[in-house]
Amino acid sequence: MKKHFHIRLEPLGKKIRVAEGTPLKDILFSYGVEFPCGGKGLCGGCRVKVLEGEVSFDAAHRNALEKLGLADPWRLACRSMITGDVTLEIGQFETFILADSSPFHFRPREGYGIAFDIGTTTLVAQLINLQDGEVMAVETDVNPQARYGGDVISRIEYAVLQNGSAELTRLIREKFGMMTGKLLKKCGGTPPARILVAGNTVMHHLFCGYDLTPMASYPFETQQGGACRFTAEELGLPADHTEIVFLPVLGSFVGSDILAGIVATGMAESEAPVILVDLGTNGEIVVGNRERILCASTAAGPAFEGTNIHMGMRATTGAISSVTLGNGEVRTHVIGNERARGICGSGLIDAIAVFLEKGDIDTGGRVTTGDERLYLTPEVFLTQKDVRELQLAKSAIASGLQILMEEMGIAAGEVKNVFISGAFGTFISLENTRRIGLLRFPEEKIVKMGNTALLGTKMLLFEDLSVVERILEKTRHLSLESNPRFQDIFAENMIFEG
Ligand code: FES
Repeated sequence: MKKHFHIRLEPLGKKIRVAEGTPLKDILFSYGVEFPCGGKGLCGGCRVKVLEGEVSFDAAHRNALEKLGLADPWRLACRSMITGDVTLEIGQFETFILADSSPFHFRPREGYGIAFDIGTTTLVAQLINLQDGEVMAVETDVNPQARYGGDVISRIEYAVLQNGSAELTRLIREKFGMMTGKLLKKCGGTPPARILVAGNTVMHHLFCGYDLTPMASYPFETQQGGACRFTAEELGLPADHTEIVFLPVLGSFVGSDILAGIVATGMAESEAPVILVDLGTNGEIVVGNRERILCASTAAGPAFEGTNIHMGMRATTGAISSVTLGNGEVRTHVIGNERARGICGSGLIDAIAVFLEKGDIDTGGRVTTGDERLYLTPEVFLTQKDVRELQLAKSAIASGLQILMEEMGIAAGEVKNVFISGAFGTFISLENTRRIGLLRFPEEKIVKMGNTALLGTKMLLFEDLSVVERILEKTRHLSLESNPRFQDIFAENMIFEG
């Protein structure tokens, strides 16, 4: 019989009993520890401090730590297995999950519905009373696939190169079943008429069990983006007659989360042009009105999520989330009011705006202080490379917007609203997005909309799904890189406005 040991997690004070040899990543992902590089030992995002005891530690693990500039008592959770009782300090214990409680218009229907948003990192599901639109219950969790990588590219790599597709499908369906099961218990014996699911294209394919190989190499196009229908029985749910639909995607890297965003913003009925921007690893952009809709993904790079930034991290405890200048001094706000451990995307945008104002960065993005580091606190700083990463990310979004607006034949002044979706968009300073040239629209036109994927999915519970067909008919997915002026536009948008 296998030996068992205890892991104690600080500062949570949790004690977990596990079998000898259990990989730490199987345990820690559900406590908010992330595995951004998918366990390759390259990013250090999964680092944990060993306070007492030890985990498995071999030469390759030591090597990986050294390359990351880490030493005792740090260990990489992705390289560690349980070999005895151990106490670990984890800093990444709070994952922010954005649900939705916005009011919306609906035509009452009989019964219940469930809206499910499957994100790369987080999952949210809401049980809705279709008679009065009330949110009766909410379930949130982290995506169990996250142990195989923090972004969609690592999931594709794991699915295609390491034959992990079936495992990723199993993990997400199992979690979907558990969360839905909890909501079903609150329906008072009346199963929901319908469960609608939205997610990016990789989540769609993994949930539906489709092959991700076409998305692993050029031209990154998938032919299996349609709505995917299941019976409750097929997903092992105790809910006869409930129809489960994973909504169709708009393109290889523009998923049904963005389709739902179009519904949430009312873009498809608006006479004046409207813009939707989802700022994340894959910044997705949509420009459209009731006549036609254009969408694109920008490969904005992971800077907004804190990855590829020397001291970058996600918006969790210890992250600098905003930076201001007061009497010539840099001031920071840290999530959880703790000592700053790093900086997240919203803090990065602010920091760049502040350093531009101080003259420590010029409009070309060059650090002018003669120092390698721009300090925000005694421990947290930005490097020249970080500034470049931010320039690449903001230029990708700004260039994408410029190209889609040119293609639509509209000028900025004609745009009625710019909606920003996603958790990251909730925290950014609109003034600073203008200052760094990310979104060049008057502040009064910009609306932070939160989780548009969940809101739009919820709104679709009240509609005939022919609404979706009509949106798909008027929507075109553009490849930005195929625009002959893309390189020039991209270079121009790298500049910070003076
Ligand atoms: S070092 Fe990247 S996930 Fe462990």
